[in-house]
Amino acid sequence: MKLEWIIDPETEGASSLISMMQTAADYAPVAEGIRCACSATVRLCNDEQIREINLQMRGIDRSTDVLSFPSVQYPDERTAGSCENLIRREYDDGMDACFLGDIVISVEHIRAQAKEFGHSEAREAAYLLIHGICHLMGYDHMKEEERKRMRQKEEEILSAVGMQRDEVAGTPDDESLIRLAKEAQKRSYSPYSGFSVGAALLSEDGRVFQGCNIENASYGVGICAERTALFKAVSEGARSFTAIAIAADTMAWPCGACRQVLNEFAPEIRVLVADAEGRVEEMNLRELLPNSFGPEELSGKK
Ligand code: THU
Repeated sequence: MKLEWIIDPETEGASSLISMMQTAADYAPVAEGIRCACSATVRLCNDEQIREINLQMRGIDRSTDVLSFPSVQYPDERTAGSCENLIRREYDDGMDACFLGDIVISVEHIRAQAKEFGHSEAREAAYLLIHGICHLMGYDHMKEEERKRMRQKEEEILSAVGMQRDEVAGTPDDESLIRLAKEAQKRSYSPYSGFSVGAALLSEDGRVFQGCNIENASYGVGICAERTALFKAVSEGARSFTAIAIAADTMAWPCGACRQVLNEFAPEIRVLVADAEGRVEEMNLRELLPNSFGPEELSGKK
């Protein structure tokens, strides 16, 4: 899902939350069964700013954690998945996607609520964003029945990316990992080869890191999707990985360089490859890189 980020200048620590939020957002239209590309704006701000917006837009002079302003008016009892014709009316040329609306989130609230619930700020941020996106997709929590449906959808999305709100974090299954790789593929920058690749890397602690291939006018300095995902992950503190999904139009097994880089951190990682036709194959990195050269060779342990 395409997100346009607006970060208020006084808001500290917002940018470190964005990667996880984007990953969770990518799964929302998938879980809702929306086929067309969707977009939204997400503004991250402080309590004081969200209070002003709340006052201006809803006449409520109070700060809050998240506000959402859907651009689509869904008929009673209906949500985005069954209203694709309504969504398509919101197609925006500039975004090349259908605009679902605006979300505002207070980073001060993210911080306070993460502390209160005893989980990470990234998880709280993802939860609040998904809550907002569910509103943009027509969910509500006024009546008990609606509230249940909304919570269920939120949990479905968050657990698919390993970020459900309760303490026991589940692990995203292979299918959601592949969907996240396909979403990342859409962000590929590959004007020279025209070959777009996306990856979704699952860390042992249940986090998902997405990557795409990023090419360059100086051809040799481009990078593959798998290494983008891995380097993002390691730079954010993840060191062990259990699976990686790779999506391209055809079956693209990781290149030699990526196999070597994966071997450094996860010599037994499961590698899932998916093409545009829905074919999926799996191999273990041990099979893809036999007689490998790794850290043990240098430490004298082998
Ligand atoms: N590429 C990947 O991102 N992953 C692979 O597994 C194979 C190749 C990229 C690199 C380059 O941008 C384009 O595909 C064509 O080689």
